[in-house]
Amino acid sequence: MKEKLQQMAEQARQTMLEAATETQLQEVRVRYLGKKGELTSLMKGIGSVAPEQRPAMGALLNELKEGLVRLFEQRLHEVREAEIQERLATERIDVTLPGRRRFTGSKHPITLVTEEIVEIFSALGFGVEEGPEIERDFFNFEALNMPKDHPARDMQDTFYVTDDVVLRTHTSPVQIRTMQKHAPPVRVIAPGTVYRRDSDLTHSPMFHQIEGFLVDRKITFGDLKGILTTFLSRFFERSIGVRFRPSFFPFTEPSAEVDIQCVNCSGTGCRVCSQSGWLEILGSGMIDPEVFKSVDYDSEVYTGFAFGMGLERMAMLKYGVDDLRLFFENDLRFLKQF
Ligand code: DAH
Repeated sequence: MKEKLQQMAEQARQTMLEAATETQLQEVRVRYLGKKGELTSLMKGIGSVAPEQRPAMGALLNELKEGLVRLFEQRLHEVREAEIQERLATERIDVTLPGRRRFTGSKHPITLVTEEIVEIFSALGFGVEEGPEIERDFFNFEALNMPKDHPARDMQDTFYVTDDVVLRTHTSPVQIRTMQKHAPPVRVIAPGTVYRRDSDLTHSPMFHQIEGFLVDRKITFGDLKGILTTFLSRFFERSIGVRFRPSFFPFTEPSAEVDIQCVNCSGTGCRVCSQSGWLEILGSGMIDPEVFKSVDYDSEVYTGFAFGMGLERMAMLKYGVDDLRLFFENDLRFLKQF
């Protein structure tokens, strides 16, 4: 009996030593040490052994079992370690392969230009105001010295919502809203979206403007020239030729259109400036006393200037974009470049 036991234990030991994988090793464990395993069954049957042999038999069984459990654990460790070494030797990760790039979004060029203009004017002491895109006729026209039937209304092909409500055709109504809220002095710029019934290669029915105005005592056309010249040099990052050309706007008197020396050819004449050497870039002027009337500013005490410019045009000139439609198509190949 004792010999048979020793033999069985020896066989179990051999199989465990030969097992090359964890699965094989577990199979051996179940066969001898599992609930119905060979050694386990013998331990359960100890009751049928003659009483005087039982203690010695029990001690032997325990000793064999403990030995097998110890061997199993040792082998398990070895087999697992061998599997890891095997994988390390055969599976290789090429850490020099480029990873998958995660595309981060970028700001739209119109947003970039808006932020830059806001920053330049902030440094000059201007605050930012906004107004609604769906606007009352009063703010878009009437208070800006464009009564009904005024011919200047034809300059701006208007989207009407009702007889009295329009999609604002410019950012100038923010002048009125701001001056109604705040007594002078005011120094404000107002960026925003505007709408006109106009759509071709160089016009979009939705586009962007930035308005600026300053009202205080003793403001002169010299202040207007100084602020705008400073702004344009900072925006185009060079000392740039500027010219003020007499013009007309209902809400300013006198009015001027501002041209800059062509940023493409520096004034010698090219396709961008139609050979003129100059680019028209904004409208401006001294705020008309009629406008002050509609916001209850005393035009005997206060004077001010205003200006407005198209942001798409500013972005085109700054970044050398030659097609307006690129700003609205949302083609990532275009937008990614900014
Ligand atoms: N509102 C004008 C437009 O959209 C632009 C403009 C011209 C604004 C002269 C001004 C200004 O403030 O003084 O065509």
